[in-house]
Amino acid sequence: MSTHSSWIEKIQSLPVLPQIAMRVTERMQSPTATLSEISDLIKSDVGLSTKVLRLANSSYYSIPGGVSEVSKALHYLGFTTIAQIVLTSSVFGSFKTQGIREFPLAPFWMHSFAVGQLAEMTARTLQLENPSDSFVGGLIHDVGKLILLETAPEHLARIVRLAKEKKLSFLAAERELGDSTHVDLGLELAKHWKLPPGIQKAIQFHHSGLSDRSCTLIQWANLRVNFRNLGNSGNHDPGLESIMVETQTRLGLGSRALEALEIHFQKEFEKAGAILSGH
Ligand SMILES: [Fe+2]
Ligand SMILES: [Fe+2]
Repeated sequence: MSTHSSWIEKIQSLPVLPQIAMRVTERMQSPTATLSEISDLIKSDVGLSTKVLRLANSSYYSIPGGVSEVSKALHYLGFTTIAQIVLTSSVFGSFKTQGIREFPLAPFWMHSFAVGQLAEMTARTLQLENPSDSFVGGLIHDVGKLILLETAPEHLARIVRLAKEKKLSFLAAERELGDSTHVDLGLELAKHWKLPPGIQKAIQFHHSGLSDRSCTLIQWANLRVNFRNLGNSGNHDPGLESIMVETQTRLGLGSRALEALEIHFQKEFEKAGAILSGH
């Protein structure tokens, strides 16, 4: 078992979030940002340019004749999608590309991305402030699990095996093993990355829903994505539905709004494959 201070040491040795991700997101939130400026920032990163072009040329957009220039691709994709590509690839690119048998990365990325997308979309429906922060919060709510993968893969494997065996949530299995949890570790990383306080809170409260509505939103989106079996993040607790419904009520999400969200989400989530590919 590691002490919390030894975890903090490990986290501090992890890379910081690439500057380009910070710059692009910052500029995209500014009303004075121009498309050519964003396009220049993306072009300075080969990996990102490839992703943007890959998505623009995917069947989801089916642009006649295709596009071969980043600046043109941006017109088709729109700012929200570009922010999602930049952040997803920067966050995930900061970690190992290989998962372990007990914790494969592809389903984990799918889980994280789905929570981010659903949270952002729902934030717009509920007219919360800064819906793109909800995307980031949702995307990285479980980033603590990547820290475990990076620094203590055998401990991560033990957690997942215990969760599976006893049908527990990932968090309950961590608590049973009695070490710092992915919530504690994720929060430390968010501090290390100097992410805004709202995003730090989203990580800190994604299982308790305390604090404010934006945190409850991340908690709900996580439960909903788990309930729908979109991807996997090592959770094996079958009793999610009642907390999900309770959280939904707390958010004020009625069945009409939920139905509309579901249709929209289904369509948006089709992009996930193209955004996530290459990891
Ligand atoms: Fe979690
Ligand atoms: Fe999660």
